[in-house]
Amino acid sequence: MAQTTRSAAANSPEGQRAPTPPPKGFRSAELGWPELHRIPHPPRRLPLLGDILGANVRTPLQDSMKMAHQLGPIFRRKAFGKEFVFVWGADLAADMADESRFAKHVGLGVANLRPVAGDGLFTAYNHEPNWQLAHDILAPGFSREAMSGYHPLMLDVARQLTARWDEREAAGRAVDVPGDMTKLTLETIARTGFGHDFGSFERSAPHPFVSAMVGTLSYAQRRNVVPPLLTPLVLRGADRRNDADMAYLNRTVDAVIAARRAEGGAGSGSGSSGSGDLLDRMLEVAHPETGERLTPENIRRQVITFLVAGHETTSGALSFALHYLSRSPEVLARARAEVDEVWGAAEEPAYEQVAKLRYLRRVLDESLRLWPTAPGFAREARVDTTLGGEHPMRRGAWALVLATMLHRDPAAWGEHPEEFDPDRFAPSAVRARPAHVFKPFGTGARACIGRQFALHEATLVLGLLLRRYDLHADPGYRLRIAERLTLMPDGLTLRLTRRARAA
Ligand code: HEM
Repeated sequence: MAQTTRSAAANSPEGQRAPTPPPKGFRSAELGWPELHRIPHPPRRLPLLGDILGANVRTPLQDSMKMAHQLGPIFRRKAFGKEFVFVWGADLAADMADESRFAKHVGLGVANLRPVAGDGLFTAYNHEPNWQLAHDILAPGFSREAMSGYHPLMLDVARQLTARWDEREAAGRAVDVPGDMTKLTLETIARTGFGHDFGSFERSAPHPFVSAMVGTLSYAQRRNVVPPLLTPLVLRGADRRNDADMAYLNRTVDAVIAARRAEGGAGSGSGSSGSGDLLDRMLEVAHPETGERLTPENIRRQVITFLVAGHETTSGALSFALHYLSRSPEVLARARAEVDEVWGAAEEPAYEQVAKLRYLRRVLDESLRLWPTAPGFAREARVDTTLGGEHPMRRGAWALVLATMLHRDPAAWGEHPEEFDPDRFAPSAVRARPAHVFKPFGTGARACIGRQFALHEATLVLGLLLRRYDLHADPGYRLRIAERLTLMPDGLTLRLTRRARAA
């Protein structure tokens, strides 16, 4: 659900504005954690270099998961003088979800995206006025009513996917799952939010927007792991490419905005999504209480934010779900039986028939449990406080909540957390678990605004695919995870056959 509208004051502890914003820039852990020595770190720490033995610059998240298994529910890592605290124990993560003492921290990879996404919703600091302004203006764009308006456009894009998959099937060729899910989710957010058609399905290679986006995300991740002193040397070529990628992203969104302005903006009804989509809201809607509007520069940041945040993670979620479905015949059969029952003879579902796919939704949740495609989120202390009653933190100190590990904490998920089992999300099982142990969409006021959008889109598409195809996994494939701030199954392909029923 879109976050409810909150006043700016409600976004600070006990409803009062914090006297000054917390300090800007990177805050190393020793500045904010007075008893840091009590938090374990990897055993082979090197002077100056830190915990870099065995670290792989391409897989920082998977490295952290290995350390988490060794070091427990809270630990720290140091690299080249920068030290971070990681938290994943269910109790500690629940404590960090307390909005009166903690808030989103814009740090690490998220902060590295500031040059391109600025004070757009995802990368805005809590104290920046544009966060509340944009949140209040855009949240109604995710209401139930807005979502039912997006449904026919989502179906249009899904039809393009099935047309492509039909061709591959007829040719006896496997499909590139992450590649095609990325085409689908990019087209979906572009058309529903911005009335723009990238033409992804007409191309064999990814759209240059996607390549530029992957470039900036990977660059933002690499900047975390390259020592600051070596950055100019190591990243010189990458810096230049990143500048070119950012320029491309900016040019693309400027063209999308210019096209809408040329059409006459909101209410013109001439955009393919009709009037009242996200772009219309950005261009035309004033804040309901203050009458303020988003500035042209901020709109540019928001369009990039939504085009990127609105497709990359959903694409990964769909890809992981298809991987697990193709490997779990019983789960697949049960999910498909549900689709056949709920949708009946209709080729395509009505809006209300998507949320009724309760078991399929569990499949999606379980995939997001094992591989939350935004694998962590950072939280900072709003006040001097003590985490879990044990670890003192000064105001502004922060930690990264590792969702991949929180979602594997045996205290919440039992003895076999690695097993894929959608029934973990049966209502009785959910009720029996503590709160705040499933956080693929983050937490609190800064949690994902697009959650319902993503869930509707992904459930709809999985339903359509299960109804149409049998999925055949490549027996030689072992799940590999590609990291670029987000997670994606690397090299996942599937073979398809059309189901007799749908043929
Ligand atoms: C499965 C799909 C998705 C996942 C796993 C996901 C995950 C997340 C997470 C974890 C956050 C919080 C990050 C933090 O605390 O630093 C977030 C925020 C956000 N997401 Fe998503 N997201 C998904 C889909 C979407 C979609 C479809 C949209 C837009 C249509 C979207 C737009 C945003 C925005 C704008 C924010 C920033 C919200 C704010 O700070 O006010 N996301 N998302």
